[in-house]
Amino acid sequence: MSAQENLLFTSNLISPEVQATLPKGYTIRPLASDDYERGFLDVLSVLTVIGNITKAQFLERFFYLKAHNHEYFTLVIVSPQNRIVGAGTIFVERKFIRNTGLVGHIEDIAVDKNQQGKKLGLRVIQALKYIGAKTGCYKVILDCSEKNVPFYEKCGFQRKEVEMAWYC
Ligand code: ACO
Repeated sequence: MSAQENLLFTSNLISPEVQATLPKGYTIRPLASDDYERGFLDVLSVLTVIGNITKAQFLERFFYLKAHNHEYFTLVIVSPQNRIVGAGTIFVERKFIRNTGLVGHIEDIAVDKNQQGKKLGLRVIQALKYIGAKTGCYKVILDCSEKNVPFYEKCGFQRKEVEMAWYC
């Protein structure tokens, strides 16, 4: 498999400006099919319970997302030690309203506990906003806890309306 085939989506959607502002030795790129071994799921564990996901389960989900990679964009930040230290996703929803407009939904933003406070979270969000703009979204939205509001305000978001949830 070539390096590009191994990636969830085209690297052309990765902001060159965001790459240029990362600390030395860090890279930002689409999720890769071998990121299971680089600790992708460990990084997500700062968010919530992950479960015992096998490599086969990871790959099944990865290739589903890759088959829909005009809608799902998961990107990662890789450390100089070749470990995943940051991750985030934008899901591009196709609507009827707003003249068949597109809305970007930011999900599952995570930075490794030992790497927080280095602006990696900010870079993940900037890179996801870039994808939202490039794919033609008219807005990008997200849900977060009260405690994360100041972080998202620093990323250029403003408080709007209320999140509701129903658990099946
Ligand atoms: N309260 C106030 N300010 C904050 C907070 C906070 N909780 N977190 C970050 N900031 C500020 C930083 O001080 C920095 O400000 P500055 O530019 O003035 O220096 C700015 O926001 C950018 O911070 P980063 O260094 O980029 O933040 P970090 O890399 O630590 O990532 C994140 C932030 C993603 C929230 C990280 O702490 C994390 O992974 N937390 C646990 C998981 C989580 O809560 N994820 C978000 C869930 S919501 C969702 O996924 C849509």
